Amino acid sequence: MVQLSTIVFGGLGLLTSGAKAALTVNLDDEASIKAAAALVAEDLLTFYHGDEPGQVPGILPGPPPDGDYYWWIGGAMWGALLDYRHYTGDKDYDKLITDAILFQTGPDEDFMPPNWTASMGNDDQGFWALTAMLAAETAYTDPEPDQAQWLSLAQAVFNEQTHEDRRVPSGRCKGGLRWQVYPSNNGYKYINTIANGCYFNIGARLARYTGNDTYAELASNTWDILTNLGYVDEDWNVYDGAHLPDCTDVNKAQFSYNAALLLQGCAFMYNHTDGAAEWEERINGLLNRTLEFFFPEGIAVERACEPGNCNTDMTSYKGYMHRWLASTSQLAPFTVDRIMPVLKTSTAAAVKQCTGGDNGRFCGFHWDTGVFDNIVGAGQQMNVLGALSSLLTVKAAAPVTNTTGGTSVGNANAGSDETVVTQPVEVTTGDRAGAGFITVLFIAGAMGAFAWMSFD
Ligand SMILES: *[C@@H]1O[C@H](CO)[C@@H](O)[C@H](O)[C@H]1NC(C)=O
Ligand SMILES: *[C@@H]1O[C@H](CO)[C@@H](O)[C@H](O)[C@H]1NC(C)=O
Ligand SMILES: *[C@@H]1O[C@H](CO)[C@@H](O)[C@H](O)[C@H]1NC(C)=O
Ligand SMILES: *[C@@H]1O[C@H](CO)[C@@H](O)[C@H](O)[C@H]1NC(C)=O
Ligand SMILES: *[C@@H]1O[C@H](CO)[C@@H](O)[C@H](O)[C@H]1NC(C)=O
Repeated sequence: MVQLSTIVFGGLGLLTSGAKAALTVNLDDEASIKAAAALVAEDLLTFYHGDEPGQVPGILPGPPPDGDYYWWIGGAMWGALLDYRHYTGDKDYDKLITDAILFQTGPDEDFMPPNWTASMGNDDQGFWALTAMLAAETAYTDPEPDQAQWLSLAQAVFNEQTHEDRRVPSGRCKGGLRWQVYPSNNGYKYINTIANGCYFNIGARLARYTGNDTYAELASNTWDILTNLGYVDEDWNVYDGAHLPDCTDVNKAQFSYNAALLLQGCAFMYNHTDGAAEWEERINGLLNRTLEFFFPEGIAVERACEPGNCNTDMTSYKGYMHRWLASTSQLAPFTVDRIMPVLKTSTAAAVKQCTGGDNGRFCGFHWDTGVFDNIVGAGQQMNVLGALSSLLTVKAAAPVTNTTGGTSVGNANAGSDETVVTQPVEVTTGDRAGAGFITVLFIAGAMGAFAWMSFD
């Protein structure tokens, strides 16, 4: 049945190809932005099959070689759809979103499902936690009481990543959060900005949401680690990371999501502290450099890898940048006049190249060329969805807290008490099939790592 209907739709697509309509929108008209965003969301979800029989809820097809997408990007996609829902009020995908997130929480309700833990990075787990936190902050419908709760999920991930087993015990990189969770994975000795940035960002948001200053102190410590190691330099460039033992071999590739994740985290800290001068200064520095570096002509460019070297992961970063800049403008309103005009010119360019695919409105990745580049994917759609919906931020409610309308139930002690397994378990004959499976996962994780490491 599924295949038959695909063929029918495929045929229709061909028949109507003469009447292809590019994505059109008037960026001065709220209703027009919502209508365009709804189409982009619909096209984004053509890449998702987790709600179909026999498929795994929550994830996009993958991980490689089974499909293009790693586990984390599913979590990121639900975040993009939650922001879309919040800014537009479109509740059509609520069941899809909730089912997807809850399916991937794992038995300990901490986004460590056994299928994916062998290749788990702290950033992978972190992206799912960012989505859970966003659900709490947008007062998204709470799960049934016997299910995992949004706030508690974010706390579980934060608590586990606070644990010393995930961190560097001594030396110059002391206290840094490792990229990978397990020693057997390539990347265990890479201390990177995205893993620490997720932790910093979640901590800042937990502080603001709960009012518990312990989160703010821990987030602040991570900011200090990142700046002391020179991952954020004196000109506010944000670099990718460095290796043990000393973290001196800084990989100076600059990716938009690293800078934007730190910027948004600073905005949460600024808001939580009622406008502390140190966070204001950091916002100003990061914001100026982000706009200058990543929006050279007022249009987002993933400069470390465009035009030709972005992998599937990197193809989704611009959308996070748009969304996290928009969020910054809410939490630190003094930035709104600097941020929103740039997001608008960038979004206009993004939409202009959405002329591809069967229906003539799928988006590509190279926004500043003005033409569709003929490569479609979930990342490309997420980017434009994020860009369009972020333009509605000015009129949208700011993130709630547990005293201003937030209803998500937390648990300050959430997370597994078990420390991370550091030695492979001895394999008995009966376990071999399982161990083989794990080996495959480790290799998949290592291959993911090599893709990253090629930037060294
Ligand atoms: C784990 O993998 C099995 C086998 O593919 C699948 O049935 C199950 O839904 C997966 N669970 C998660 C949480 O991904
Ligand atoms: C908000 O969260 C904090 C920290 O968990 C807790 O002490 C406080 O009681 C919560 N407030 C409300 C209104 O739930
Ligand atoms: C505040 O957060 C810390 C760190 O997770 C936790 O240990 C503590 O119990 C929390 N306090 C309250 C009142 O929730
Ligand atoms: C914190 O965010 C709220 C909501 O956008 C805003 O009204 C308030 O002014 C912000 N606080 C500061 C210090 O800018
Ligand atoms: C950032 O840019 C603004 C506006 O262009 C300027 O006033 C400010 O001095 C800059 N701040 C920093 C820290 O570079």
